[in-house]
Amino acid sequence: MISPKDFIKKRILIVGSNGMLGQRLTEYFLAKEEVELLASSAEDESFIPGVAFRKIDITHKEEVKKIINDFYPDVIINTAAYTNVDGCESNRELAWGVNVTGVANLTHYAWACDAHMIHISSDYVFDGENGPYTENDMVHPVSYYGRTKLASENTLRGSGVFGTIIRTNVLYGPAKYGRPDFVKWVVNSLREGKTIRIVTDQINNPTYIDDLVSAILRIVDYTKEGLYHIGGKEFLSRFDFTLRIADFFGLDKNLILPIKTAELNQAAKRPLKSGLITLKAESELGYSPREIEETFQLMKIELNL
Ligand SMILES: NC(=O)c1ccc[n+]([C@@H]2O[C@H](COP(=O)([O-])OP(=O)(O)OC[C@H]3O[C@@H](n4cnc5c(N)ncnc54)[C@H](OP(=O)(O)O)[C@@H]3O)[C@@H](O)[C@H]2O)c1
Repeated sequence: MISPKDFIKKRILIVGSNGMLGQRLTEYFLAKEEVELLASSAEDESFIPGVAFRKIDITHKEEVKKIINDFYPDVIINTAAYTNVDGCESNRELAWGVNVTGVANLTHYAWACDAHMIHISSDYVFDGENGPYTENDMVHPVSYYGRTKLASENTLRGSGVFGTIIRTNVLYGPAKYGRPDFVKWVVNSLREGKTIRIVTDQINNPTYIDDLVSAILRIVDYTKEGLYHIGGKEFLSRFDFTLRIADFFGLDKNLILPIKTAELNQAAKRPLKSGLITLKAESELGYSPREIEETFQLMKIELNL
């Protein structure tokens, strides 16, 4: 039987729900009684059990139209993206298709049903010459991935949709399905006695996924529009972050070898001195990222690491 409460439930569509961020968001919203949730992603089935799910390819406008028009969401959260930074250099058409045309398709139908669209972008819109960055700093992407993410932001901004852009960097946390995050990869590699080469010259503030989720929940609750930077509590090099992981989990730090980004010969250039200043989110959303060691403790418990 339909209860009167069902009429005031917020209808939330998560796009990219099987991704690292998407699956965690899905778990959170699934537990909220006041939300009617539809998860959608590129795979045939949802990784998270018990959720209403539709397979979606956001590059196909007709598919996007059907799903959005059928569900008629109040809020669309787009976490779907082609996130292989080096892959974006060689697969430019695919990267633009997913990261820009896909967003244009979503905004087109978000506009038609007057939905609030929340879109996830990246610190890779900056060149990393002079970070960390505020929302007011000048963008200048140095990779094709970064260019597509910037274009995705502009697509949402220019669409007329009530929209929120969140830039984040180096996500890690207790995602249970799919490829391991950086922390899990480091822990597994060191436990297996493998040496790992980690860059000393890429600086940012790694973001615990659940901190980002808490920011998104507030943006939904407070119906906040605009641009927000969401990152972790500390700015540090990837090498130092890795040492902190090894310290916390009691692993052999001698297996962690320092290397410079240039020595890796990657296809895509990386922003080096990056990171995102979160003062705006702190003051407007009450955003409060956890201490790094607290996030490791939470991962240890939840993933049995
Ligand atoms: N991870 C980070 O460190 C980081 C840092 C800064 C910003 N971000 C941004 O944060 C967001 C979430 O990142 P994430 O790490 O959770 O990404 P992710 O794990 O790669 O997840 C992205 C999801 O999008 C799906 N997808 C790809 N193409 C699609 C399409 N055409 N239609 C529908 N779904 C499609 C992917 O499916 P398949 O896996 O099957 O392709 C995957 O499930 C992205 O916008 C990313 O740019 C991430």
